[in-house]
Order: sequence, then structure tokens, then C-alpha cells
Amino acid sequence: MIKYLPLLIFILLGLNNCSGEKKNHEAAPSPAQVDALLHRVCARCHNLDMPPKTSDDEKAPPLYTVTVHLKDRMKSDDPSALRAKFIDFVSDYVIHPSRKKSYCDPASLKLYGVMPSLKGQITPVQARAVAAAIYDRYDQMAMLAAMKERNRLARLPAWQQVLETRDCRLCHIQGRGRLAPGFDEIARKYAKNKEEGLKKIEKAITEGSRGAWPKYHTPMRAYKGLSPRQLEGISRWILQQRKQ
Ligand code: HEC
Ligand code: HEC
Repeated sequence: MIKYLPLLIFILLGLNNCSGEKKNHEAAPSPAQVDALLHRVCARCHNLDMPPKTSDDEKAPPLYTVTVHLKDRMKSDDPSALRAKFIDFVSDYVIHPSRKKSYCDPASLKLYGVMPSLKGQITPVQARAVAAAIYDRYDQMAMLAAMKERNRLARLPAWQQVLETRDCRLCHIQGRGRLAPGFDEIARKYAKNKEEGLKKIEKAITEGSRGAWPKYHTPMRAYKGLSPRQLEGISRWILQQRKQ
């Protein structure tokens, strides 16, 4: 037994070491955490939309523009290795940016200045996950699809735009409202006074609603960001619903 003691100690130490390392190992962030990082950190300077939005006082080009430009400039040697190369570059750049490393063209670099280091605001593991996410999210095909979808939505009537982009139908199911009154029931409630109904419905959507339908116990949250046309469109549409 004594003979083996050093070996035993060695093994125990080894095990200890491994588990110690495991504790320090930082897990890769989930897609939701990556999205939160993009919004909290990157969106301070880069617009995240696709199609991208630009403005006169922007602090940096939109992330779509930056990503597509980088992919294009990096492509040269081995196209199949592009994703890995992109992730290596971007995860390093956000923590150690420099004029020398930047692929940004000289005129833009002069306009925006070099990106400040995000050291302390993002860990290397997080930076790799963010780099992978923007590589996958921002590309020309996805952009074309996003623009096609935007054009398709723009041609729909305003009420349908709301139903296709919001979750109203999750709860408001025609004729069998278990989570919320059906839109037909709401129409019936306001059938006698449509002008008042219109005002009440618009208010319920923009401010949320509680207590108007005691049968359902749960309140409804407020919906922000609908255009006036969409708000009026969906409200008038609800008033026209009949039991199917
Ligand atoms: C404080 C402002 C600021 C923040 C925050 C910021 N950036 Fe930047 N970023 C810039 C500016 C300015 C540039 C353009 C100049 C340059 O290339 O350094 C840039 C450029 C880049 C580039 C292009 C580099 C190149 O060589 O073309 C990438 C990629 C990038 N940013 C990713 C990110 C990511 C990912 C985040 C969030 C984790 C982020 N940035 C947060 C300001 C910022
Ligand atoms: C999570 C479930 C849920 C979703 C999603 C939801 N609602 Fe509701 N909604 C409710 C509930 C519950 C009520 C009843 C609340 C109350 O008692 O005041 C309600 C009430 C309403 C009312 C009636 C207000 C009144 O004065 O009687 C309207 C109109 C309405 N919702 C429209 C919408 C629209 C439009 C959307 C989508 C943009 C939507 N709701 C999404 C649950 C939901």
C-alpha cells in the first residue's frame, strides 16, 4: 500500500485539480443571454436592426454593415474556414481593438475613430458567442428574406399586420376564449356603442386591461410600438368580429 501512496496522492490531487478547473470554467451564454449582451453592450454604438438603420449621429456603423463587410474582406483565402476565422477575429477585436487590426476603411475609421475596448464589459467566452451569433444572423440572404418579409407585411391591411406580428391570438381565440374573451365577444360587448367601444379597445391595447372581464381573472399587458394606423385598424377589426 505504502508503495502506492505517492501514486494515490498524485491521482487525488489530479482529481481535485480537474474539479477545481471545472468550477472556474465559464459556460457559454444561452441565445437569450447573447441577445441581451448585444442589446446591452453592442447597441450602445451599433444599430442592430436588419435592414439596418443609420443616423447622422451614430457612434459606429450598424452591426449588419460591419458584419457583411468583414465577411467580404476576410473571404479571400479559405471560404470554408471563414466562420471560425471571423469568430477568432471579432472576439479578439472587441477586447483588443486597434487601428492596425481594423478592416474598416480609412475614411470610416477617421469618421468613427477606433472602437474602444470592451474589456471588463464582456468576457472572452461571451465575446466568442456574440461573434458567432452575428456571423449567423447578419448575412445578405437573411437580409433579403427580412426585406421580403417587410414588404409582404407592408402590403397587408393594418389589422392583419398586428395579428401577424403580435401574439393576440394566443389568448383571444374566436368563440372559445379560455384565456381571454374572444374578439367576437368583445365586439358584442361594444355593439351598442361603437365609438365608445373603439376608444375603450384602443386604450386596452395601449395601456393593458384588468377587471373589464372578471371571468378571466388575469390582466392583459400593454402593447407598445403599434403605429396609429395599426392601432385603429386592429380596433375597428375587433369591433366587426362575429361568432364563427
Ligand atoms: C463605444 C462604442 C462601441 C461599442 C459599445 C461597440 N462597438 Fe464595435 N465598433 C465601434 C466603432 C466606432 C467601430 C468602427 C471602427 C473600428 O473598426 O474600430 C466598431 C467596429 C466594430 C467591428 C468591425 C471591426 C473591423 O475591423 O471592421 C466589429 C466586428 C464590432 N465593432 C463588433 C462589436 C460588438 C460585437 C460589440 C458588442 C459586444 C461592439 N462592437 C460594441 C464602436 C463600438
Ligand atoms: C396573454 C393573453 C393575452 C394576449 C396575448 C392578448 N390579450 Fe387581450 N385580453 C386578455 C385578457 C385576459 C383580457 C381581459 C382583461 C380584463 O379583464 O380586463 C383581454 C382583453 C382585451 C380587450 C378587451 C378590452 C375591453 O375593454 O373589454 C381587447 C380589445 C384586447 N384584449 C385586445 C388584444 C389585442 C389587440 C392583443 C394583441 C395585440 C391582445 N389583446 C393580446 C389577454 C390577452
